[in-house]
Amino acid sequence: MSLRVVGFAGSLSRPSKTRSLVDLVTLRAAAALGAAATTYDLTDLQPGLGTAQTLDDLDGLPRAIVAAILSADALVVGSPVYKGSYTGLFKHLFDLIDPAALAGKPVLLTATGGGDKHTLVIEHQLRPLFGFFEAATLPTGVYASGADFSDGVPASPPLLARIDRAVSQFATGLKHEPAATAA
Ligand SMILES: Cc1cc2nc3c(=O)[nH]c(=O)nc-3n(C[C@H](O)[C@H](O)[C@H](O)COP(=O)(O)O)c2cc1C
Repeated sequence: MSLRVVGFAGSLSRPSKTRSLVDLVTLRAAAALGAAATTYDLTDLQPGLGTAQTLDDLDGLPRAIVAAILSADALVVGSPVYKGSYTGLFKHLFDLIDPAALAGKPVLLTATGGGDKHTLVIEHQLRPLFGFFEAATLPTGVYASGADFSDGVPASPPLLARIDRAVSQFATGLKHEPAATAA
């Protein structure tokens, strides 16, 4: 069975800079690992995520997407910065996830913001959240501001270089040890 890298963007926008960034990072990670790549976002989990009190409250397709996220060999997650943090609905999804479900999972953290003021949202908000889950977050996170995009696509050379640096940190052992199938 081939490795699977799954991207998840905590944005409801379409088009979405965050989804575009997560998608590119996921594709580059999959290419580096010889893995399959899929990207989802919050809109894929509608309707019903906002009012769900457990994952069982989600419809079949959104529930299957969450299962695909949890069973991935490696994750790329990202959120737009809203008021200095990740979006509320992004946090709500992770509030529904079992505390042990991401333990040891390699996770590459990304975020997008309007400017550079909240670059450290990855270190101050996203990394502690995934620390709670005991996920294996990669040392390098990828933050992109509006100026890093061209026609909605990540384009600035420093951003693309940082993506390559972060992707290179996915453990080489991943090439040989696919994650167990989701429960
Ligand atoms: C409600 C709201 C709050 C925002 N707060 C911030 C913020 O605190 N800092 C920042 O840099 N950008 C902020 N932004 C801008 C978005 O983070 C930025 O445009 C992001 O790239 C949008 O991603 P998307 O295209 O995936 O929705 C905010 C945008 C919205 C809609």
